[in-house]
Amino acid sequence: EQEIGAQKDLKGKKILVTAGPTREAIDPVRYITNHSTGKMGYAVAKAAALRGADVTLVTGKTGTPKPRFVKLIEIQSAADMFEAVTAAAAEQDIIIKAAAVADYRPKSVGTEKTKKTDGDMAIELERTDDILKWLGAHRREGQFLCGFSMETQNMLENSRVKLDKKNIDMIVANNLKVEGAGFGTDTNVVTIITRERNLELEKMTKEEVADRLLDEILAVSADK
Ligand code: CTP
Ligand code: CA
Repeated sequence: EQEIGAQKDLKGKKILVTAGPTREAIDPVRYITNHSTGKMGYAVAKAAALRGADVTLVTGKTGTPKPRFVKLIEIQSAADMFEAVTAAAAEQDIIIKAAAVADYRPKSVGTEKTKKTDGDMAIELERTDDILKWLGAHRREGQFLCGFSMETQNMLENSRVKLDKKNIDMIVANNLKVEGAGFGTDTNVVTIITRERNLELEKMTKEEVADRLLDEILAVSADK
């Protein structure tokens, strides 16, 4: 039986992976975030490193153990992630965006803790920049871009729209409503969507998904 990672088929490749949630500050003590634990992205970073790639991992704050043998860049907000990813993008052969990036952030961030009043309160939000869309618009010749897509309805249709709109090569779709998929689980149920086809994978560990995803990226980029 062949040990995972025994085959160094990513040797010489530079791969950037993003993972985890972002945190968008409201004031010095509060922030807006999501349920991402980074497990899927960390599994991809680890698998790529074991297969010989030179891996940079840009991650939001998580409690998940960090993979070894990768260059780790820890960030908080979507704006931090944008800065870190765009600064490192030009030299990458493959970029895999597993992070759950906030779409909105508070329009203004209080410098003092917000005190409660008797009435209701509202927080005005503004859009963050779409990092993957920026990458699709500034892609280096031959660079491979892979996103992740989380949906609760019309998963395949909505994910394919993202593939086109962001001008990327592949999007890994997962349906939050399926058992054994999504946030915090050790398994995932995904469909790997490319221009040519939808490859539906059965339920498997996030480590196995990571290896299948890297296999698919190598196969698709070989035919490009
Ligand atoms: N993404 C990004 N920057 C953002 C938002 C999303 O790079 N500001 C990336 C994610 O890392 C993921 C992909 O875009 O790889 C799809 O994210 P998703 O949230 O599923 O899609 P959105 O385009 O944000 O659309 P929506 O949330 O409305 O479904
Ligand atoms: Ca989103």
